[in-house]
Amino acid sequence: MVVGVGIDIVDVARIAHAMRNPRFVPKILTEREEVYCKNAQQVAGRWAAKEAVIKAVGIPLVMRNIEILNDPLGQPHVTIRDLRFDGVRLRINVSISHEKTHAAGVAVVERVVLQVPF
Ligand SMILES: CC(C)(COP(=O)(O)OP(=O)(O)OC[C@H]1O[C@@H](n2cnc3c(N)ncnc32)[C@H](O)[C@@H]1OP(=O)(O)O)[C@@H](O)C(=O)NCCC(=O)NCCS
Repeated sequence: MVVGVGIDIVDVARIAHAMRNPRFVPKILTEREEVYCKNAQQVAGRWAAKEAVIKAVGIPLVMRNIEILNDPLGQPHVTIRDLRFDGVRLRINVSISHEKTHAAGVAVVERVVLQVPF
């Protein structure tokens, strides 16, 4: 069952400007995300997706505690490291898109039905 949704769009130039500060990227990306992101568009995509996740879960999460990594097909998957987030019952799905000037992210939170053995 869907219990939350979030969306965000970001100006790539704003992120590119922020990236001039060497403290910016390590503040918002995990080390593995930093290895993956090759340009400001991808960093902006992660920013937008994380803002979308924060909106969808309704908890003011720290961006670095949200990790978005891509599987071999390129599909992004989210992991949240925050005790306030119920990672057992809730699953987050994200989608990212980026063009030259803008990046966007969408997040959908699902409540997972736990199978209780009889
Ligand atoms: C997946 C695909 C549609 C992306 O479209 P695009 O217009 O090139 O790129 P966009 O800017 O809109 O989106 C890029 C983002 O799509 C996401 N993405 C890439 N592959 C994906 C996939 N297989 N499934 C879901 N999302 C994917 C990534 O998050 C990527 O951003 P990131 O690398 O910074 O994390 C395109 O790469 C494609 O057609 N790939 C081959 C077919 C395929 O794998 N299809 C699966 C989805 S039906």
